[in-house]
Amino acid sequence: MNEFWSLPDAKQAKARRKQDVMVDYSFSLPEETIGLGHHKKFYLRTYGCQANIRDGEMIAGLFVAMGFEETDILEQADVILLNTCAIRENAENKVFGEIGNLKHLKVKNPDLIMGVCGCMAQEESVINRILAKHPHIDLIFGTHNIHRLPHLLHHTMFTKEKTIEVYSKEGDIIENLPDHRFGEVKAWVNIMYGCDKFCTYCIVPYTRGKERSRSMEDIIAEVNHLKDNGFKEITLLGQNVNAYGKDLGIDDGFATLLEAVAKTNISRVRFTTSHPWDFTPNMIQVIANYDNIMPAIHLPMQSGNNDVLKRMGRRYTIEQYKQLFDDLKKAIANCSFSTDIIVGFPNESDEQFKQTLDMVDYCQFDQVYSFIYSPRASTPAADFDDSIAMETKKARLAKLNEKIKHYAYLNNQKYLNEVVEVLVDGRSKKDNEIYSGYTPQNKLVNFKGKDIETGQIVTVRVTEAKSWFLLGEAL
Ligand code: SAH
Ligand code: SF4
Ligand code: F3S
Repeated sequence: MNEFWSLPDAKQAKARRKQDVMVDYSFSLPEETIGLGHHKKFYLRTYGCQANIRDGEMIAGLFVAMGFEETDILEQADVILLNTCAIRENAENKVFGEIGNLKHLKVKNPDLIMGVCGCMAQEESVINRILAKHPHIDLIFGTHNIHRLPHLLHHTMFTKEKTIEVYSKEGDIIENLPDHRFGEVKAWVNIMYGCDKFCTYCIVPYTRGKERSRSMEDIIAEVNHLKDNGFKEITLLGQNVNAYGKDLGIDDGFATLLEAVAKTNISRVRFTTSHPWDFTPNMIQVIANYDNIMPAIHLPMQSGNNDVLKRMGRRYTIEQYKQLFDDLKKAIANCSFSTDIIVGFPNESDEQFKQTLDMVDYCQFDQVYSFIYSPRASTPAADFDDSIAMETKKARLAKLNEKIKHYAYLNNQKYLNEVVEVLVDGRSKKDNEIYSGYTPQNKLVNFKGKDIETGQIVTVRVTEAKSWFLLGEAL
């Protein structure tokens, strides 16, 4: 035990406090960590959602500020850090598998520092398992204290003591962290942290703390800065973007923010995730009014049955979901829709599952992220009775996935022989006349072209439409 030793606590993580969140603009690198990474390399692997990817950019930013160089070769690394996801059991299994796989590197290089951060680090059960079974992990920190990485790393390197610092209570919003963007064309922009919805199956409110919005000024400044640096597309990030600004007392905050972001005139604006609850008519209007807000809506449905939705704590009925879907479709021209669906929620009946399939028929989604329910420690649903066999759940997922693929294919056929606008973000390694990018509706297009730069928006004729991508030729 040492001064850098604090473990997570599920009860505290669940508590929601009334006091205001402060915004801290004062970050600077601790003096003793300047040059800490001289002639040293870090390897960072990020799992999970966009929030984690964005955190990864901050973590990389801190390493770079300390003088480290990034490597993607494990054997060359002086520090290996796994930025983890806790959303489902298989996400955690992957990380534990990797922790085991990496052990031999420590034998070869005893000075190597191995760390775990991200959402799994916020879970008591994970920390206990690492302490009991994986003594080669030297450093653990959570999602609320990324800014502490320099201190913690310095301590681990110089004392060789195991360092664990996880806050269960979210802290202030830290602005001005050094930042190392992974892309040059598209960027993630956090607009809020945490989640207060507490859907009964979900671990995120425990691993990410209460909802805290960044100030509108800070967000707009970041978007303008990205635009000035050549970025063409930004995606506004939050677990529930439509709750943006509630904690700041801004009325219809997301509609106001979205409009202000559109007015920066950056070429493309996206956002994720919208909870169907709280999606206001003003938001729909703003999306419809601005050409640079992309017509692609991710609207997680989770289930097509009202009883299941209620037990999930989703706060909307399927009738309300349908109404919102219809309103969006009517207001926003050529909009694509994607969703998330969980099958095999505790005691979900065949009939209830069938209603989910019916909703997929109704909405004909462009894309669906489908999952088998995975019990998460500390969440209410983990204690629900469940008599549905795993085999049944797997069969349901397979059936759902068939339907998903059918509509993905059908939707893509609409683009055959059409001309689409593609924001180019890559070029084939094998053939330098093949490029890739996305349409406004977020359709991946691989196309033939010449002398095209990434970041350009080019017009492409679609020559073939597959289920998961389009093929085409630049005009
Ligand atoms: N904030 C987003 C969801 C983030 S998690 C929203 O509410 O829309 C992404 C998706 O993972 C969820 O939409 C849900 O479909 C799935 N998910 C979350 N917890 C899960 C669990 N315990 N088992 C299976 N899938 C889960
Ligand atoms: Fe999880 Fe629900 Fe919050 Fe989404 S809204 S992160 S599913 S608790
Ligand atoms: Fe996973 Fe944490 Fe995101 S649990 S999905 S990385 S918020």
